[in-house]
Amino acid sequence: MGDEVVTIAWDDGLDGVRLLDQRLLPGRTEHREITTVAALVEAIRTLAVRGAPALGVAGALGVVLAMDEGDRNGWGEEEVAVAVDSVRAARPTAVNLAWGVDEVRGRMAQGRDAVLAAARQIASEDARANRELSRLAADWLLARLDRPRLRALTHCNAGALATSGWGTAVGVLRELHERDRLELVVVDETRPLLQGSRLTAYELDHLGIPYLIEVDGAASSTILRGLVDVAVVGSDRIAANGDVCNKIGTVGVALACDAAGIPFVVAAPWSTVDLDTADGDVIDIEQRPGAEVVELAGVRTAPPGARGLNPAFDVTPARLVTAIVTERGVVEPARGARLDR
Ligand code: MRU
Repeated sequence: MGDEVVTIAWDDGLDGVRLLDQRLLPGRTEHREITTVAALVEAIRTLAVRGAPALGVAGALGVVLAMDEGDRNGWGEEEVAVAVDSVRAARPTAVNLAWGVDEVRGRMAQGRDAVLAAARQIASEDARANRELSRLAADWLLARLDRPRLRALTHCNAGALATSGWGTAVGVLRELHERDRLELVVVDETRPLLQGSRLTAYELDHLGIPYLIEVDGAASSTILRGLVDVAVVGSDRIAANGDVCNKIGTVGVALACDAAGIPFVVAAPWSTVDLDTADGDVIDIEQRPGAEVVELAGVRTAPPGARGLNPAFDVTPARLVTAIVTERGVVEPARGARLDR
């Protein structure tokens, strides 16, 4: 993996988007070269690129793709706008995708180079934000938890792969590791697409951070038995009242942390905070194909005719969220604190 994995970036030689195909990890490290909006939308929907902050960059670069494709094909403004909207709507839950599109869309009148520069700025800002929020979260945790080295549980993948660098929840773990204050990470495998066992484990492996993978169903027991000191997760959308939307299974982790009296910490850049969403009830939760649940690696595991229920995300109510750490600081929703501008 080298120093830092590059998840998604504009490639000047290609004149298109180059992304690491996360569907193939950890077995194969292959990149996809994308020069059309339709190919980018497909890559987003099938999770070749995924994770809220990385989707923000994908959204912004999608606007450049739409402008270039429009140029090549003689599209009018309306057709370019339809293409941009298709990127914006490729997945509904992570606010970063729509945010990334909206951040650069206003620059279209200044030309595609201005849009590309703004998209690149989003990526570099994200990496910077992740470093900062990781430092803040590590400081916060170490001031509260009285152990030489912490044992942490994480769910899904909120590492460099899900961002433009360093990671959010995994970024916090990296920061603790660099300070020699991390003993072990318990990684939930994250059914059905295994972002934990495929991607988080891949990252921790390369970083030399000790970890164990557990099935999602083990998480509450691990927490209640006192085998971890804290849970640290990322987020796809944080509502104004502190409700946190993240990968399905996260709310169970939060409930167990509450019952065990250990902190449940959310690490995310400010771009994941959506002040226009009042609370978690109104978040559009992506429903993915039931086939992902009744099959494992393409092999059917349920009886023929069995149908899967497959919400990709859940909402953890603010009262269960001990801390939300962004690059702007720490907010403690469980104590009644709200996010504001
Ligand atoms: O469906 P995914 O893999 O895009 O879901 C990703 C997550 O739920 C992550 O935890 C979240 O986006 C935070 S990534 C820093």
